[in-house]
Amino acid sequence: MIERKKVTPEHVEALGQYFNQLSEETKEYFAPHPFDIDTIIAICKGSYKDYKAFICILDGLIIAYAVVKNAPTARELERFANSSIGINIENNYILAPSVADAFQSKGIGSILLDFVESELRKLKAEKIILWGGVQLRNKRAVHYYLKNGFKTLGEFSHNGLDNLDMVKYLNEEHT
Ligand SMILES: CC(C)(COP(=O)(O)OP(=O)(O)OC[C@H]1O[C@@H](n2cnc3c(N)ncnc32)[C@H](O)[C@@H]1OP(=O)(O)O)[C@@H](O)C(=O)NCCC(=O)NCCS
Repeated sequence: MIERKKVTPEHVEALGQYFNQLSEETKEYFAPHPFDIDTIIAICKGSYKDYKAFICILDGLIIAYAVVKNAPTARELERFANSSIGINIENNYILAPSVADAFQSKGIGSILLDFVESELRKLKAEKIILWGGVQLRNKRAVHYYLKNGFKTLGEFSHNGLDNLDMVKYLNEEHT
């Protein structure tokens, strides 16, 4: 059975193992922070910037990890400056999810996202925006966000690659 948890200090070792076994491709798509031991310890203690981290565990192993942050980065603020959606630092979160390579495309990312959303709703979050958008060539992730209710806001280019900005509204008036 898959357990869904907030990351705590007891997860330092397991989280290190999780990051170590991610493929280069997954790390290329998913890089919200460095994966060194000091960062992992700080994340597990809840003291890494204002990040909040969530995991799925199967048979004692972490198989999925997501991190959210409630202040959009300067890059996001710049991209959304002229957008019709307003960014409110208080209740808008940016999200970066990941699933261990061997478990991708089996619904685990959706289970993780459902948990993250339920935790963010408790904090009265209004919307979730993709952290750095999603690369257009990352077709699995694009499909994953669309099937989980994200809407495309627009396209932007970064380092020569096309990306989509996507948002999910957590309150009912937008669904
Ligand atoms: C993106 C990610 C978090 C999604 O988690 P997941 O557990 O794989 O997601 P799910 O299994 O819930 O959904 C994936 C969907 O994509 C589909 N899919 C797989 N490969 C695909 C492809 N090449 N093109 C289109 N859809 C594809 C799957 O069939 C599934 O859809 P379905 O349920 O309708 O059949 C995970 O794949 C991952 O960690 N990828 C690498 C890191 C990454 O890209 N992070 C996001 C950065 S923006």
